[in-house]
Amino acid sequence: MPDVRDSFRNVAANYTRSTFHASSVRLQEVVDLARPSPGDLVLDVATGTGNTAFALAPHVHRVIGLDVTREMLDQARRIASERGIANADWVIGDATRLPFQDETFDVYTVRAAPHHFADVDAFAAEAFRVLKHDHDAAFIDCAPPLPARDVLHEVEMRRDPSHVLSLTVDEWVATLERAGFQVEMAEPRELDWDYEEWMGNMGVAPGLAAELATIIESASGEAGAQLHPERRDGRLFHAYWHALIRAHKP
Ligand SMILES: C[S@@+](CC[C@H](N)C(=O)[O-])C[C@H]1O[C@@H](n2cnc3c(N)ncnc32)[C@H](O)[C@@H]1O
Repeated sequence: MPDVRDSFRNVAANYTRSTFHASSVRLQEVVDLARPSPGDLVLDVATGTGNTAFALAPHVHRVIGLDVTREMLDQARRIASERGIANADWVIGDATRLPFQDETFDVYTVRAAPHHFADVDAFAAEAFRVLKHDHDAAFIDCAPPLPARDVLHEVEMRRDPSHVLSLTVDEWVATLERAGFQVEMAEPRELDWDYEEWMGNMGVAPGLAAELATIIESASGEAGAQLHPERRDGRLFHAYWHALIRAHKP
């Protein structure tokens, strides 16, 4: 099994400026979904360079950003210090074995990371365990519809060997319900995806990026219609989907 840290340690800085990860519109989406309150203690799992944690920090008492890759957290610490953000802490840890007591957090968030987790049931069970009773969690992750997922899966595995699987929205709901959550909202959201930036974030070599582009551009039938790849001034854009989920721990 590839080590996710090998994928992220050398490209950490890219995630501080990636259009998707750092966009204020996308970060407002997390705040709207998580509905933070001023007294809240928040856990942002797989925080990476801290984008989601930084979006939540002004709305809450304290946020803990947890990630398995030290170099990603180094970037988060640097940015927190540059911006004078004093209510964020950074913890090295694994989403499937959280180093926290039961019922510790008022809000749990995770964005753009569960598709790396080998055991999604363990991850969902841990989210449920550390969240306080009668509180909510927000989950955002890539979630392409079938059959586009099959095409993107091949591309994602070769772009980043630490990719495991993007769940569909229905698979997400089933996973969270197995863990005990009541899913209050689960919606797919489609974005116009800048393929070259996506490859660039992971430092994919130009030859491989060109090869993977042909997989997307030659998708046919329903998958091709869903992905609707298009060149604009030579640059490839195609559809990409996330699930936006709000779930309640009764
Ligand atoms: C795309 S980045 C995260 C982006 C960040 N959540 C954001 O919103 O900008 C994916 C992160 O998941 C982390 N990660 C992957 N598997 C993990 C695991 N099992 N436990 C904790 N972090 C993990 C990686 O180290 C990486 O920093």
